[in-house]
Amino acid sequence: MQTLEITQPDDGHLHVRDGATLSAVVKASAQQFGRAIIMPNLKPPVTTVSQAEAYYQRICAAVPDDQPFQPLMTLYLTDHTTPADIEQVAQSPLVYAVKYYPAGATTHSDAGVTDLRKVWPLLQAMADWGVPLLIHGEVTRRSIDVFDKEAVFIEEVLAPLLDAFPRLKVVLEHITTEQAVQFVLQGEDRLAATITAHHLLMNRNALFQGGIRPHHYCLPILKREQHRQALLYAISTGNPRFFLGTDSAPHLLAAKETACGCAGMYTAPLAMPLYAMAFESVNALDKLEAFASFYGADFYHLPRNQRTLTLQRTDWRVPDFYPVADNRVLPPYAGQTLTWQVVA
Ligand code: NCD
Ligand code: ZN
Repeated sequence: MQTLEITQPDDGHLHVRDGATLSAVVKASAQQFGRAIIMPNLKPPVTTVSQAEAYYQRICAAVPDDQPFQPLMTLYLTDHTTPADIEQVAQSPLVYAVKYYPAGATTHSDAGVTDLRKVWPLLQAMADWGVPLLIHGEVTRRSIDVFDKEAVFIEEVLAPLLDAFPRLKVVLEHITTEQAVQFVLQGEDRLAATITAHHLLMNRNALFQGGIRPHHYCLPILKREQHRQALLYAISTGNPRFFLGTDSAPHLLAAKETACGCAGMYTAPLAMPLYAMAFESVNALDKLEAFASFYGADFYHLPRNQRTLTLQRTDWRVPDFYPVADNRVLPPYAGQTLTWQVVA
């Protein structure tokens, strides 16, 4: 039986929500990850450092005592964010970055930025203070096909943005296309990208496998096989500017299985097994540790974790659902067999 002992990983992109959902989901992350970049798209969003610090306390209160887990907080950029907010981020020991959602791009993004020109001075402040900008990289124009939104964003928005702010550190979050892979490979060290497990393992056929599959709906949406292959190529290069970010995004069952279902896959409990399967599929298991445990920490100037995580090549069955108070959250692969398991 094959086992893999790695430095404890960090999750570079995680949604833990709030209230009963927070209490139910955070343990799954703490069992695998030492730290996680916490996305601020609550309702209402986390827009100030004092809100981020209060949210930090609520997350810590939900973490089991025997599973130390450090939430790395972020602020949600809006048209009303001020340079003083950015300065506070730079000075806060708990807040690590600012997240840019184009208004209307995804779940709870209606408070997002309506026009990047409105936040131009803030981007300069971020560059000056060394605060990374985390980007949901999709344009929102209705005329652009949903499968093209990321590629168009890179050309129209991201490339000019990087040119305009030569010292701004940027993470292009949850990349899904060969265009994004190429752009990051050709970019400077200040540009990195997170890659989810589900985009490494599924192509867009998974949305329609024998019928419509709401639990495979996420944003950015799953893409063609050629794009999935490009993501697998990216992780197999061992390039330090690609690192782990699950984008685990729990939604209660009723919000997914309905006429207008929410975007987001709840992958947190399966995260490291899924990544191991993806890396194994391209004979790159030797690259998993750096992707999961080194490159994200290095990008954020954090020490690498001291503890370890052990994975074993064993079949196990994914639960049909995870309970959240009186409700349920369904993961992708519910009821199916995965071939790697976290053992310690
Ligand atoms: C995320 C969510 O539900 O908060 N959904 C998703 O499909 N990934 C938002 C996001 O990261 O886009
Ligand atoms: Zn996300």
